[in-house]
Amino acid sequence: MQLRDFSAGDFSELRYVAVVHGVLENLIVFLRQEQEKGVTHVSLDEGARHVLREWSTRKAPKPQIREMGIAKRPAIDASVSAESLETSPELPVREMTLTIEGNSKAERIASLQRQAQNCPAAKALGTLRNMMVFSVGNPEARIVFVGEAPGSEEERKKEPFVGPAGQKLDGILKAMGLTRADVYITNVSKFRPAMPQQTTNNRPPTAKEMAVGMNYVRREIEVIQPQCIVALGGSAANGLLGLNQVPVGELRGKWHDFMGIPVRVTFHPSYLLRTQSSNTEKRKLWEDMLEVMGKLAMPISEKQRGYFL
Ligand code: URA
Repeated sequence: MQLRDFSAGDFSELRYVAVVHGVLENLIVFLRQEQEKGVTHVSLDEGARHVLREWSTRKAPKPQIREMGIAKRPAIDASVSAESLETSPELPVREMTLTIEGNSKAERIASLQRQAQNCPAAKALGTLRNMMVFSVGNPEARIVFVGEAPGSEEERKKEPFVGPAGQKLDGILKAMGLTRADVYITNVSKFRPAMPQQTTNNRPPTAKEMAVGMNYVRREIEVIQPQCIVALGGSAANGLLGLNQVPVGELRGKWHDFMGIPVRVTFHPSYLLRTQSSNTEKRKLWEDMLEVMGKLAMPISEKQRGYFL
């Protein structure tokens, strides 16, 4: 188990600034990123716990913090477990009834898109931005790629995966001999998760935000009936498979099932960007893609087999 220490001073400063600039939310984003790397606990000293406890008992509304589940739980021991960052089981997001119109797959997907545009459940959460970024690609695709949520670039262009992570994804598709027109690309949240004082900074969606988005993803997949789904990163995998913060490392290397469709979990393309990854990490992602190609009986050349070796 990896531990990371914060001093009381760190937290005091974060708390003070949080009131004005929302820095505490950034801390939570940081903790989530640590979680993605497989860190399950962080240690807090008495001072830090005091500050968090004080924050948690404040009367003022604190949607982000409440959303992350921290505020509901007084810190009673010297560690905050990864689970405490998970959304509280209270306020469950109920399944939505979506009426899908149209005959062709394209028409039916368009019908879902219209409904997502004014999604009352997403609005009700109050933690997502207003601009809806729907999926792109081929409704007749054999592969559906599922990502996390739109970021600032995606919101600007109203299309998923168009920022740096999108360019990485394009590279992965090219290596597989595919283009965007061959696949369908969706996200577990159709809305960019909001942050105070937000500019180009993004955060992963919470479990509740993903639960809202999954209402659409479920129906999209039902319409498309792909032969294989690729979950890109921890949020997509956990949201899709109904898991609770299971790291990608534990989910890779085997087939999962979503509504009878095989699912392969791999790293999020931005993980490769963030870590300036070595060929070892790239190879791991590529091996996941080779599995997908094998599943779909796609031709695989010797050159393709040897990428990143
Ligand atoms: N990351 C995602 O997971 N989805 C996007 O659409 C963009 C970046």
